[in-house]
Amino acid sequence: MGRDGRRRDARDLHDNTHKTWANLEKRKAYTVSVGTAAQVKACDYLGCVSGNKVADKVARSGFHMTKAPHVDAPTIDELPLVFECELVSMDPDTCLVIGKVVNVACDESALTDGQPDAEKIGPISYDPVAHVYRPLASPLAPAFKVGLEL
Ligand SMILES: Cc1cc2nc3c(=O)[nH]c(=O)nc-3n(C[C@H](O)[C@H](O)[C@H](O)COP(=O)(O)O)c2cc1C
Repeated sequence: MGRDGRRRDARDLHDNTHKTWANLEKRKAYTVSVGTAAQVKACDYLGCVSGNKVADKVARSGFHMTKAPHVDAPTIDELPLVFECELVSMDPDTCLVIGKVVNVACDESALTDGQPDAEKIGPISYDPVAHVYRPLASPLAPAFKVGLEL
């Protein structure tokens, strides 16, 4: 559903004129960093502004980039959890992108006993109904256990 209350299909939501699309075609690789509560403003900025219109978009966001160790794409230094992906296919009609995750990296500051710690990462999700970002980290119930109480 769009802001105007109109039902939308996937094609309405995707757009192959994004700078990201052109970068994908060139590099055949990409990274997916998980947005965080600590960096919500900068994450939102990246989604609001196109690199096609604002050439120094990344610098303006305040983020810094480093080349990913395993793929030909940048990673965002300030976001602790990143998936490094090789492009498998991209369809300009549907904008469906399929990739293969070749590495997952987590900043040491977000690890506990060597494992990624959701509380330290502080991941966020976009709620397209209320148009807000929501935190994901709080535990709700023990998995493989709470259901067995029925
Ligand atoms: C919360 C949020 C969600 C978005 N979801 C989508 C989406 O699902 N599909 C899409 O094509 N663009 C989406 N966008 C818009 C793109 O992120 C935006 O067009 C961006 O400027 C593209 O940047 P680029 O041209 O530098 O790649 C979203 C933006 C925001 C802020």
